[in-house]
Formats: sequence, structure tokens, C-alpha cells
Amino acid sequence: MAANNSQPLRIAVLISGRGSNLRALYQAITRGNSGAQIGCVLASSPAAAGLAFAQEKGIPAALIDYPNPPDEAKTAASLRAHLAGHAIDFIVLAGFLRKIPPEIVKLYENRIINVHPALLPAFGGQGMYGRHVHEAVLAYGCKISGATVHLVTEEYDAGPPILQECVPVLPDDTPETLAARVLELEHRLLPRAVGLFARGMVKIEGRRVTLLSETLKQ
Ligand code: GRF
Repeated sequence: MAANNSQPLRIAVLISGRGSNLRALYQAITRGNSGAQIGCVLASSPAAAGLAFAQEKGIPAALIDYPNPPDEAKTAASLRAHLAGHAIDFIVLAGFLRKIPPEIVKLYENRIINVHPALLPAFGGQGMYGRHVHEAVLAYGCKISGATVHLVTEEYDAGPPILQECVPVLPDDTPETLAARVLELEHRLLPRAVGLFARGMVKIEGRRVTLLSETLKQ
């Protein structure tokens, strides 16, 4: 799955909202030598502001079919068509709030990552997104929070972590101030994780994810 010498890792970035992680990833990639390129942006809703960014940068963008009531087969077919159509090697969920159909998780086994605004497994799972996460962290009285980039499996936020880093929770924090501190961290961790995969520096054995730079230290 790693990019070979001549071709970059072609990634699809999936969004549901404002797309600040998409922007951070795009800026990191355009700074060069990440080994990745954004092949397409796929949104779960036409209201996703990140679509305007994709258009502005000339990145192919499309909507994933999430019918109501849900129809997993239709959504899987829609994703499969878009991913194949853009020759995608790797999927990055960047502020993406919908479930990835099991068929796609299997097709892209160990090649889908997500960024979550907390230190999983704490404060994760269905319904734990955006403000809800930071409200729960503050309500619990935590002294630290953070961000997790993890592999995507069939359950929300349950895949093994790839990168995690923490930030302090300050006495006068609100969900908004904590969210902003964590978001800055997300904007660093997600591009770093993509670069590691693109350079083939991630070893996955079951739930154990080793970054090759770590193995070199051993
Ligand atoms: C971020 O906090 C991300 O962790 C979560 O969705 C939020 C919005 O992300 N998954 P973005 O600004 O749309 O990238």
C-alpha cells in the first residue's frame, strides 16, 4: 500500500463539515515530500464547507450516497465507485461523521484512518463527536485531553491508535477553548500519520501498530 518510488500514495479525504483537517492535510502535502497526494474529497453532505475548499484547489470532489432511510449497500456502492474512479489507495476520515460500510472497511483493511478529538478509548464511540466530546471531558473533570489518529474498523472509534498526543485541560476551559487546543493538535497529527503511511513506515500486527522509526530505536 505504501507509495512506491515513482508514485505518491493517492488518498481520498472524507469530510462532513468545515474541513479544517482537510485544509491542514492539503497544506502539509503541498509543502512537499509527504509521499501522498489527495486524489479526491468525498463528502457525506452537500452542506460540507470543505467542498468549497476542494473546488477552490481544483481537487475532484463528490457526494457519497447516504440515503434516508439508510441503505448500506447503496452507500458502499457509491463509495466503491468514487474510490475506484480516482484510483484511491488510502482513505482519511477528516471530520467525517458517518459510518463506513463494513464492505469498504474490508476492501481497504488497514488503509483507512480517522482523527478523533480525544484520547481513545476514552470519550469515543457513537455520538461522541465535536462539542459532545469536550463537554464530556470537562464534565468528568479530566486534567488532560488530546487527539487520536487511529485505524478505522467496523465500530466507531474502536481501531488501534497510530498516533496520540495530549493537551492540558485548563481550569477555565470551556468546550470551545478545549476544542480549539485539541484541533491544533489534530492538524499536526493527521498529516504526520498520512506521511508515515505514505512512506511505508507503519507496521500493523493485530492491534499493535509500530512506527518504523520506533523499531529502529529498539
Ligand atoms: C474535528 O474535531 C475532528 O476531530 C472531528 O470533527 C471535527 C471537525 O473537523 N472528527 P473538521 O474541521 O471538519 O476537519
